[in-house]
Amino acid sequence: MAIMQIGILGAGAIGTAVATRLLAGGHQVVLSNSRGPQTLADTVRGLGPGASAASRQQAAQAELVVLAVPGTRTAEALAGLPDWQGRVLVDATNDYATPPPAADDLTSSEVVARRAPGARVIKAFNHLFAATLRADPRRPEGNRVLFVSGDDEAAKKMFTALLTGVGFAPIDLGDLADGGRLHQVPAGPLVGQDLVRLADTGAQ
Ligand SMILES: NC(=O)c1ccc[n+]([C@@H]2O[C@H](COP(=O)([O-])OP(=O)(O)OC[C@H]3O[C@@H](n4cnc5c(N)ncnc54)[C@H](OP(=O)(O)O)[C@@H]3O)[C@@H](O)[C@H]2O)c1
Repeated sequence: MAIMQIGILGAGAIGTAVATRLLAGGHQVVLSNSRGPQTLADTVRGLGPGASAASRQQAAQAELVVLAVPGTRTAEALAGLPDWQGRVLVDATNDYATPPPAADDLTSSEVVARRAPGARVIKAFNHLFAATLRADPRRPEGNRVLFVSGDDEAAKKMFTALLTGVGFAPIDLGDLADGGRLHQVPAGPLVGQDLVRLADTGAQ
């Protein structure tokens, strides 16, 4: 897969864990936070070559952007950005402040999608602890599973190819309404499941 430049809104535990994996796969990351790129100098240095810091607005211009801010701050993090014009927004956030959705409630990533007009939103990177996500997903027995849901098939195809390329084993759970519910924190049945897809041993 071609090298991508990926924007990241939020440069804490999850933002830097995702950045670590993408950088290890040869991609470039542009990190941002609420306080400006000058506050991310140490973080960028620690991540190494391929990492840089920019404003929230600049990071959001990437073809693929990861949202990694506290669940209570997604509206603020997405506010004032221009229409996404089909760019992909990967929602890694968990909303602990809102009760788990009832059957006819929006899932948390559907709420995020409404805050990002024009974005093709995918839910991912949210169901494991940051330290687990930061580790090499290529295990001796196979590859670490990441769950993915989203309403746009082409966006998911592009994103799952990216995940596969950096060593994960993505599993597409379907759309944000039904699939998203399965890996929504805290109540989704797949939350915290650290699974490995076994390498093909050729066994029947
Ligand atoms: N930690 C985990 O193990 C884990 C696992 C799965 C999912 N998650 C989810 O991932 C999200 C991030 O968690 P975290 O643990 O990485 O949090 P964190 O370490 O506290 O980092 C949050 C980051 O978001 C930035 N931020 C806050 N408000 C912002 C805004 N309005 N615009 C841009 N950036 C903003 C913060 O920057 P400032 O310092 O400038 O405020 C900080 O860099 C949460 O929704 C969490 O539920 C976390």
